[in-house]
Formats: sequence, structure tokens, C-alpha cells
Amino acid sequence: MSTLLEVSGVSVTFDGYKAIRNLSFRIGEAEMRAIIGPNGAGKTTFMDIVTGKTRPDEGRVIWGEKSVNLLRMNEARIAQEGIGRKFQRPTVFEDQTVHANLLMSLRNPRGSFPCLFYRPNRRDQVRVEELAEEIGLSGELHRKSGELSHGQKQWLEIGMLLAQEPRLLLVDEPAAGMTLAEREHTTDLLKEAAKTRAVVVVEHDMEFVRRLECKVTVLHEGSVLAEGSLDHVTSNPQVIEVYLGR
Ligand SMILES: Nc1ncnc2c1ncn2[C@@H]1O[C@H](COP(=O)(O)OP(=O)(O)OP(=O)(O)O)[C@@H](O)[C@H]1O
Ligand SMILES: [Mg+2]
Repeated sequence: MSTLLEVSGVSVTFDGYKAIRNLSFRIGEAEMRAIIGPNGAGKTTFMDIVTGKTRPDEGRVIWGEKSVNLLRMNEARIAQEGIGRKFQRPTVFEDQTVHANLLMSLRNPRGSFPCLFYRPNRRDQVRVEELAEEIGLSGELHRKSGELSHGQKQWLEIGMLLAQEPRLLLVDEPAAGMTLAEREHTTDLLKEAAKTRAVVVVEHDMEFVRRLECKVTVLHEGSVLAEGSLDHVTSNPQVIEVYLGR
């Protein structure tokens, strides 16, 4: 698998505290990867660094076949490079329908968002329907997004990110607050998305991680503690001590 993202020797200090310490690892093209680790391990900070929200003190974040350094780019430029991020709290436009939310998120070849009241062409319509199908909201297209359940809003937001056709999707704790059935649907959806792009998922729910059936990276105190299959990392005594044995 060729490398899509490489984090190399990255360190971040917040008020004298080293939250990320010489962090290095790689994500492959169209790879699904789970990141686990105790609270404060640096999982969210890793996503902040990749998306340009937090600037590290040192290290490199290398992206794509041209090996560009993301640390030289601002947040908007990084998003344009094809890195999408889902935050914990859904940020859909509640007054708008599911259809409108998806439509306004579609990647426009001219690089601007279509405005809310423009008349979508046939291709955009088809794409919105495909996205709704992919996230399991085909039956909800004309409902106001504010009426959706918490889980449905999360899927809509994932759909809005997929509408941008990212090459890398970063998802922070998607299962939080979801029912078991919603969590299962979320795993299916992310696995489907990872067939055509890389998906990195931070999650504390081990059953959720198991269903992702992917390589797992364990972070602890800002560095990689272990990496491999879920069975491999969860039988590592250090991982048990710092994370699982809590
Ligand atoms: N903007 C910030 N300013 C100061 N300290 C921060 C900031 N962001 C994160 N930290 C600190 O950096 C460390 C790593 O935090 P981070 O949020 O990345 O952990 P996490 O692995 O995502 O934890 P959790 O599982 O609780 O979400 C923590 O000690 C946190 O308090
Ligand atoms: Mg976090």
C-alpha cells in the first residue's frame, strides 16, 4: 500500500506540557485506521495538526504522491488538498433539509459552493441521491435536518464530508452517544467510505473498533505505544496497563 500521509518526528507543547512527543506513523492510500489510547494521549491533537489547526514545534507531515509538507499550508488549503474532518458534535444546518445540506456540500469543480437557492443540475441531483443512499438517509431527504436523531445527524455530517470527495477522512469519536444499532450502521458506512479513500477513526468503544476490522495505532503520552491488529495491540502488556486495565 502506498503512503498517503506520513507524520514524522512531530512534537507539540502546550504551556510547557509536551502533548505530542516525536510522533511518527503512516497512513496508506484507501486505508482504514483506528487510533485508540487513554484520555489526553494526543489523538485529537494529532487531527488538529493534520488539519492545520495546531502548529507543531517540530516534525513534518507529508501528504500525497508529491510529498508536500502540510505544515506549510493553512487550514483552508489543507481542506482543498482533500482532507476532511468530522468533529464530535454534528454541525449540520438544522433549518435546511437533508437534501439541501448534501447539495450545498457537493464539491464544485469551480471550487466554490453552490448557493442555497440555485437549481441543481441532473448530475448534482444524482450525486445527492447516491450520498443519501450511502449514509442511509434516502428516506429522509426532504426532512429538516433539525428533526433527525443524533445518529442520523452524525451520518448526514459524514455524508456532507463525503460530498467533498476527500482522500482522507478524519473522524473523532463517531460512536459517542449512539445506540448499538446506530453504531453498527456507522461502522458499515465508514467501511464503505474507506474503500475509496483513507479513513482514520479515533474511538474509545472497543467493539466499534473491532467491527472496523483494521490496523490499530495506540497512542500514549503523545507517541505511538503499539500498532497492529486489534488482537495484537490489546494483548500488549503496556497497552493493557495504560489503557485497557483502567
Ligand atoms: N489547545 C490546547 N491547549 C492546551 N492544552 C491542550 C490543548 N489541546 C490539547 N491539550 C492537552 O494536550 C493533551 C492531549 O489532548 P488531546 O485532546 O489530543 O487528547 P485525546 O487523546 O484526544 O484525549 P480524549 O480521549 O480525552 O479525547 C491533553 O493533556 C490536553 O489537555
Ligand atoms: Mg480527543
